[in-house]
Amino acid sequence: MEHVFVNGTNSEAPTFLLLHGTGGNEQDLIGLGREIDPEAALLGVRGSEVENGMPRFFRRLGMGIFDLDNLSERTEELATFIDEAAKQYGFDRDNVILIGYSNGANIAANIFFERGNIVKGAILHHPMVPRDDVEVPDLAGLHVWIGAGENDQMTPPEQSTALKYYLEQQGASVELFWHQHGHQLTMEEVQAAKAWYNQTFK
Ligand code: MLT
Repeated sequence: MEHVFVNGTNSEAPTFLLLHGTGGNEQDLIGLGREIDPEAALLGVRGSEVENGMPRFFRRLGMGIFDLDNLSERTEELATFIDEAAKQYGFDRDNVILIGYSNGANIAANIFFERGNIVKGAILHHPMVPRDDVEVPDLAGLHVWIGAGENDQMTPPEQSTALKYYLEQQGASVELFWHQHGHQLTMEEVQAAKAWYNQTFK
């Protein structure tokens, strides 16, 4: 997968896997990752699908209607990519945290739905429930933070509440943060994610 890797400055700090929204690329969330933890290693990755010139992590059939076979294939591709990148760059495979926005948050959520607890945690900005046709595996020990907008037209508020429920049902610990805005990523939200990260992992 197309990607960029930036070494961390503290070997104890995690590697953030950065997953952009529709139309983004591997560089998009580098600044966000730096803001969350200036010492972390950053692995920005570009989704392999392209929709009208816009990179995405998996195909969709319409707004919010996902191509579930493609979602499975791309989720496997991403999980394999994490393993290979850990070998290539020498980062600790057991100390990886996903940070995703929108489409990137959705494939991150689907990693938990289909692959289980294969990373330490995740910061999911404006995610949806990726699918409801699988039995979510055991997620004990997983830490997830969800940021959501009360006026988000793209990912309706009940999606965030439902995702929290699905993850918690399988033993993950989940914090859901609300702001009054829409689908955009706000500084208020980023600071809330950072506070949770510091409290949970430091
Ligand atoms: C998706 O397709 O993953 C969601 O609708 C969010 C987005 O448009 O990126």
